[in-house]
Amino acid sequence: MSETRPEEILSPEANVQTIAAEPVLEVIIPSGPTGARDQDEEWCEVRHDGEVKRIRFHDYAEVFSIPGLYERLFYEELACDSPRTVCSLLGQALRDENVPAGELQVLDLGAGNGMVGEELAQLGADSIVGVDIIEEAAAATERDRPGIYEDYKVLDLTDVGDEDRRELRAREFNCLTTVAALGFGDIPPEAFATAYELVADDGWVAFNIKEDFVSPDGDSTGFSEVIRGAFEEGALELAADHRYQHRLAADGEPIHYVAMIARKRGELSLAA
Ligand SMILES: C[S@@+](CC[C@H](N)C(=O)[O-])C[C@H]1O[C@@H](n2cnc3c(N)ncnc32)[C@H](O)[C@@H]1O
Repeated sequence: MSETRPEEILSPEANVQTIAAEPVLEVIIPSGPTGARDQDEEWCEVRHDGEVKRIRFHDYAEVFSIPGLYERLFYEELACDSPRTVCSLLGQALRDENVPAGELQVLDLGAGNGMVGEELAQLGADSIVGVDIIEEAAAATERDRPGIYEDYKVLDLTDVGDEDRRELRAREFNCLTTVAALGFGDIPPEAFATAYELVADDGWVAFNIKEDFVSPDGDSTGFSEVIRGAFEEGALELAADHRYQHRLAADGEPIHYVAMIARKRGELSLAA
């Protein structure tokens, strides 16, 4: 009896697809001084499709436009695990208060390419809507995690039109998540406040933030006053918090964030 060799089973098209499905993606993080003074100035070199580009870590439009780069850079090279950290802390807080995750109607602010949405779906959230300020994030979510969000809006929450506001209100959110997106020229306090306003009273607010941004001395973003004020005035009631290594910096030093899970008990006031 003659044996069938593997190449006789595969059609010629299947062979072509196997080869074409593996474009080269190489990430080089410079080991010496880069001139980057802060987290949002760090950069790397990326080789993709025969081209080498210097990309700033926080240039999310560029990062999301290359398939797999976000996960490769932040999760594999820089050991980030924040979506899982924040969502598992949220899951624990829900269990502590006997609230089924299946009741959650979530607004995920700064949704990126859907890693937080994926964690929320695993938790069992009923509905998840993503908002991000750049089209490239919405396109990357469609490419990388289609179907995770019930809706995904590209919006600037500091300047929302009436129709978008009406649509978002109609969702009756009872949970806001925002992960790895507050401060650093990303989400400003005003956009966070708009999202917060869309959450029902007693709803859940789950976020992480660089520890310096919630300390009175190290903050230049305005979040320290807003968040500390919200806890002091009782607008937010803390359910759980956790200081942890958010990721490594380009030089290998740990960057610490605080994950916080809180209940909304009142409106947020922005500092004057
Ligand atoms: C580091 S990514 C985090 C993505 C996702 N939350 C995660 O943890 O994987 C930061 C995201 O915040 C988005 N972003 C920045 N400024 C924003 C703003 N003002 N409003 C909404 N999204 C914003 C960026 O476009 C980017 O997708």
